[in-house]
Amino acid sequence: MTTITIIGSGLIGRSWAQVFLSGGYNVKIYDNQPGQASSAIAEIKKQLKELEEAGMLRGQLSSAQQLALLSSHDDLAEALEGAFFVQECVFENLEVKQSVFQEIEKLAGTDVILSSSTSCLVPSAVFSGLQNRSRCLVSHPVNPPYYVKLVELVPHPETAAAVVETTHQLMTKVGQVPVRLKREIDGFALNRVQMAIIAESWRLVEDGVISVKDIDLVMSEGLGMRYAFIGPMETMHLNAPDGLEDYMKRYGEGIKRVLTSFGPIPDFVGDGSKEIVNEMCELIPSDQQHLAARRVRRDQLLMGLAKLKEDH
Ligand SMILES: NC(=O)c1ccc[n+]([C@@H]2O[C@H](COP(=O)([O-])OP(=O)(O)OC[C@H]3O[C@@H](n4cnc5c(N)ncnc54)[C@H](O)[C@@H]3O)[C@@H](O)[C@H]2O)c1
Ligand SMILES: *[C@@H]1O[C@H](CO)[C@@H](O)[C@H](O)[C@H]1NC(C)=O
Repeated sequence: MTTITIIGSGLIGRSWAQVFLSGGYNVKIYDNQPGQASSAIAEIKKQLKELEEAGMLRGQLSSAQQLALLSSHDDLAEALEGAFFVQECVFENLEVKQSVFQEIEKLAGTDVILSSSTSCLVPSAVFSGLQNRSRCLVSHPVNPPYYVKLVELVPHPETAAAVVETTHQLMTKVGQVPVRLKREIDGFALNRVQMAIIAESWRLVEDGVISVKDIDLVMSEGLGMRYAFIGPMETMHLNAPDGLEDYMKRYGEGIKRVLTSFGPIPDFVGDGSKEIVNEMCELIPSDQQHLAARRVRRDQLLMGLAKLKEDH
C-alpha cells in the first residue's frame, strides 16, 4: 500500500502528485499525451524546490527525497503496476472519463481503489459502465489542493463502506481534510453552497443593491473572516447565548422571511450580465497579465492562511 497512480497530468494531476509525495507515497504519473507526464515531472520538481526554499514544503521529507518517489509513464499498464489507489484527473468530460476507467478496470488488480477528481459529474454517471463499482468513488479536491485541503468523498450507490474508509484514512494521512457525502448529489456539497452564494451575490448586484466591489468585501472582510476557521453551523451555535437551538428560536423566523424574498435563478450571460462583467473588469482587467498577477497574489495569501491554520 505504498504506490499511487495519477491518471492525467494537468493542473490537478500535478497537485495531487505533490500531495501524495508529501505523505511519502510512490507516485506514478500517466498521461495519454506523449511527453506530457514527463514535463509534469519537470514542473513538479521546480515547484518542490520553490516550496522548500519558501519553507512551505509539506511532509517530513526533503524535496529531493520526495522527487525520488516520483516517476512518469506513457504506458497505462506500466503506470498501474503495484498501485493500491488510482486518482483520475483527465479532462472534465463524461465520455473521456468513462473510457479511461474502462481501460483502467481491465488492467488494475481487483482490490485497487478507483477514485475520480471530477468536480461536476456524479459517481453513478462516471462509474456505471464498470464491472465492479464497489471500489469506485469521487475524491473531489479544491484548487489549489496543496493549500486548500478539503476533499469531498462522494460514493457511487454501490461503493463499499470500506473503500470510503480507506480513502478517508489515506487523505488524512497525507494532510488533506476529507469529508464524506452520505450519498451522491449534483454539485456535491461545496459547489452547492458556492452556487447559492454566487446566485445571491449576482442578484444583489444585478438589482442595483450593491456594487461588485462591495459584495466581494461582504465576503472577504465579513463572512470569510469567520469561515476560514468555523463554518456556518458553529457560527450560529456561538452567536446566541444558549447555542444553535436558541439561535433558531431568536432568528429562525427572520431567516425564513428573508429566504422567501430571494429572486429567481439569474441569467448569468444575458444583457443584464454585461454591466456586472464591465464593473468587475474595471477593478481587475481581464487580460492575462492582470489575471496572472491576481492569481499569484491569491495563491500567496492562501499559502499564508494555510500556514496560520496549521499553527492553530
Ligand atoms: N482545475 C480545477 O480547479 C479543478 C478543481 C477540482 C477538480 N478538478 C477536476 O480535475 C480534473 C482535471 O482537471 P485539470 O484542471 O487538471 O485539467 P487539465 O486540462 O489541466 O488536465 C487534464 C490532463 O489529462 C490528460 N488527459 C486527457 N485525456 C486523457 C486520457 N484519456 N488518458 C490520460 N490522460 C488524459 C491531458 O493530457 C491533461 O494533461 C477534472 O475532472 C476537473 O473537473 C479541477
Ligand atoms: C470488487 O471490489 C472490491 C473492493 O475493492 C473487492 O474487494 C472485490 O474483490 C471486487 N470484486 C470483484 C469481482 O473483482
